[in-house]
Amino acid sequence: MTLDHAVADAAPSAASPDAASAAAPAPAPAEAPAAPAVAPTTPDAQTVTAVRHWTDRLFSFRVTRPPSLRFRSGEFVMIGLPGDDGRPIMRAYSIASPAWDDELEFYSIKVPDGPLTSRLQHIRPGDRIILRPKPVGTLVLDALRPGRRLWMLATGTGIAPFASLVRDPDTYARNEQVVLMHTCRTADELAYGRELVERLKDDPLLAELYGADFAQRLLYYPTTTREPGPLMGRITDNLTSGKVFRDLGLPPMDPETDRAMICGSLAFNSDVKAVLEGFGLREGANSDPREFVVEKAFVGEGI
Ligand code: FAD
Ligand code: A2P
Repeated sequence: MTLDHAVADAAPSAASPDAASAAAPAPAPAEAPAAPAVAPTTPDAQTVTAVRHWTDRLFSFRVTRPPSLRFRSGEFVMIGLPGDDGRPIMRAYSIASPAWDDELEFYSIKVPDGPLTSRLQHIRPGDRIILRPKPVGTLVLDALRPGRRLWMLATGTGIAPFASLVRDPDTYARNEQVVLMHTCRTADELAYGRELVERLKDDPLLAELYGADFAQRLLYYPTTTREPGPLMGRITDNLTSGKVFRDLGLPPMDPETDRAMICGSLAFNSDVKAVLEGFGLREGANSDPREFVVEKAFVGEGI
């Protein structure tokens, strides 16, 4: 299935000039108290430039980028807001924008009682957040041995680092083909990824570098697990049954050619890791590049 095919299968969403600033498909939180104020003099303060609510559980936003911030697509930083006592509540966030972007984009969960996101979900353009400009992470191209096909395997907000990587020209310089598998419980939770992929077809930088049909090199495989849709099932099941290979017309994963990046819950990461190891792929790291790398999309309860 090509990008065109998969996007046509999924419910279309309005094309927009900017994923975080376009017309919102979901309203801002009904009760919308202001986010806690960050003084402009606060160290590491950055200004919010756009906010978009995708569902009542998911939103994305963009902020100004510190001129000194250099990062590799796929890395994460710490962002936060002041708590009631004035001390910052900081959490890890994958940067969802590519390394060349003038601004930074983030894609976030809204945890109703979450110390940070119960507040962060109320930010508006012009507000400030705190951003520690020290990017780190394992989901980077450098942590993989050269290969031909890169699999990006994500659930929920785990798509955030891949939103950065699919927009990075280096991803296509290093891989002939990229497969983005994104799984959520319901179709509305796939909307951010669907629009990201749809807009890639018109990406002027990638088209200039790799030709107008470069988008054929990105295969998009969105699935739901708790709502009927054109494509369904857990990533682990679609890999082990071979369904995704048959649907996309690809051979099964091979450690000679295939590379993978995993980003989801702890249970998802561990189950996908076992599946990839079954195909003969080995986990790598920045210091020891191999065939796949893993990062948590969040830290679950009790961990
Ligand atoms: P917390 O007290 O941090 O979390 C409360 C509970 O909510 C957790 O125990 C967990 O069960 C659940 N939860 C937290 N985050 C998520 C999530 N993303 N999806 C589903 N359930 C969740 N979060 C993002 O929304 N976007 C990102 O790009 C992102 N990148 C991360 C990168 C790394 C390396 C790590 C470790 C975490 C990342 N997170 C991301 C999670 C983020 O750090 C926070 O946990 C999240 O913003 C919630 O913060 P909180 O203070 O409101 O609640
Ligand atoms: P399922 O609906 O079958 O549990 P969650 O919202 O619980 O984080 O899950 C997000 C998506 O990830 C859901 O589609 C869920 O499927 C899927 N998922 C959760 N845990 C795993 C796992 N261990 N392996 C594969 N997929 C998983």
